[in-house]
Amino acid sequence: MTAVKIIRSANQMQEEANRLRSGGKTLALVPTMGYLHEGHLSLMRLARQRADILVVSIFVNPTQFGPGEDLASYPKSFERDVQLAGNEGADFIFAPSEKDLYPDGFQTYVTLQELPGYLCGRSRPVHFRGVATVVTKLFNIVKPHTAVFGQKDYQQLVIIRRLARDLNFDIDIVGSPTVREPDGLAKSSRNLYLTPVQRRDALCLYQSLQNAQAMVTEGVTDTARIVDRTKLLIQSCPEATVDYISLCDPETLKNVDTIKGPVIMALAVKIGKSRLIDNAILNP
Ligand code: PAJ
Repeated sequence: MTAVKIIRSANQMQEEANRLRSGGKTLALVPTMGYLHEGHLSLMRLARQRADILVVSIFVNPTQFGPGEDLASYPKSFERDVQLAGNEGADFIFAPSEKDLYPDGFQTYVTLQELPGYLCGRSRPVHFRGVATVVTKLFNIVKPHTAVFGQKDYQQLVIIRRLARDLNFDIDIVGSPTVREPDGLAKSSRNLYLTPVQRRDALCLYQSLQNAQAMVTEGVTDTARIVDRTKLLIQSCPEATVDYISLCDPETLKNVDTIKGPVIMALAVKIGKSRLIDNAILNP
């Protein structure tokens, strides 16, 4: 296995991408903000199978954090990340500086009209503008044929699929299943902040999804009943506060009142200082 190559500048990454593409190679991109865990690594494994060259980007994107969010304290572990991505067969790590991606005078942003108005976008008003902008930039810099994103961030995945379609990116957007801890908690860099009691309460997200699927299997179609039950379940955990609970259309993210086909159940819960999200498809 050849060592993973670290690229720090967008220009150099573009030159490398041009060289590889003109040599007939296919490229897959896995965008991340680093502090890699098993969830990220599973995306790399999927991407590795889909192209000749695997590029992993590591960039804590400032434009997707709102005021008062955890940008300054976002955990970092670059050396370890390089090692882990290398073990998964990454050929390149693209880790640009903030100045390189957002030089003085930067003023062009990518916004979507409707999709950011739901779920996480309601409590994080600038978040998806930042995500859409940085992902567009990464697509133009790395020029991948395929890009892999986690279903854990379901709204992000739907937004990126829409963005790729709307802006004619000739890139196959692949969604990859959520990787969980043995007890069901979705892996997240933010789990790091949980105290032992909060870690126990954090299970309420997964339990809520399981409980909702059980209700749907029993024939419940009224989503208000499922939301009420979920609220009670989460309220019974002292460290947990609901941000949102939504049962929505898998593509438009519009609320569904009566379940007739597959719906996405998505939820965000504050546990101590951490805001955790999870989701599942509920099938009647
Ligand atoms: P980050 O939170 O680092 O996540 C990078 C990718 O890993 C995303 O596609 C996310 O959905 C996926 N991921 C995270 N936890 C996962 C899990 N438990 N199972 C499966 N996949 C998981 O998402 C971002 O970074 C940023 O918004 C980014 C797309 C890089 C743009 O800045």
